[in-house]
Amino acid sequence: MKLYGFYLRHISLLRSNAVVFRWLFGYTPAKALWGQYWDWTTITLRTALRRHLKPDMALLDMGCGPYAVLSRFAREKLRCNEVTGADHCQELIDYAKQTDPESGIKYICSDLFDNIDGRFALIAFNAPYIDEDSSEQTVLFPTALNRKRFCGGKGGVQTIARFLRDAPAYLQPGGKMLLGVNHFHSGREAVRGEIFKSGLRTVATLNNPVTKSCVYILMEKCDAKM
Ligand SMILES: C[S@@+](CC[C@H](N)C(=O)[O-])C[C@H]1O[C@@H](n2cnc3c(N)ncnc32)[C@H](O)[C@@H]1O
Repeated sequence: MKLYGFYLRHISLLRSNAVVFRWLFGYTPAKALWGQYWDWTTITLRTALRRHLKPDMALLDMGCGPYAVLSRFAREKLRCNEVTGADHCQELIDYAKQTDPESGIKYICSDLFDNIDGRFALIAFNAPYIDEDSSEQTVLFPTALNRKRFCGGKGGVQTIARFLRDAPAYLQPGGKMLLGVNHFHSGREAVRGEIFKSGLRTVATLNNPVTKSCVYILMEKCDAKM
């Protein structure tokens, strides 16, 4: 536990550093008022976006957070023309909007797809995956807002299950979903079980064996056969 505390303190310095951020994501971030800028899953999703996003695609960055890291990386580095960033915390969306008056990204406060219109070629989600009953949850996330941001309900997979159930209705034909998790915190079997139940098909995975972050690239079964 001591070693884990040491790791958390040092990794937090790295993840809150604006110079490191600029090197990784290609633009200068707003002040880190809401905690660290990124986590290991953000980095794996960044790789997935590089592989799967083209400038003419419509992207939905679900759970964009206060810095809208993936939305802005898609817009400013990958030159994606149509980016929507959504988050269910009003204060985070307000900060994202306030600190990004010019990029043209559309920011929406929404509990998953409740306020989302239209269809997207790519939907990315760095999902909250911490089990709401785990001791880790109270140690790592002492405030209610932090728990709302990072806890994924019972077993850490309730939000993921809702996302998998609802997302296909917002996908364009042939569209893909990029579901990012970290298997250090959330069980591989539990996440795969939810994907299996959803009827979606995993067409590829991006795994980082060191950080345990993992992105599942998903399609509807009928599209995956094409
Ligand atoms: C792990 S953070 C990811 C932040 C950022 N996208 C990144 O990759 O670094 C998860 C984000 O999802 C948001 N979120 C959690 N549950 C959500 C829900 N039901 N609807 C919309 N956003 C949600 C949280 O507020 C948080 O900003």
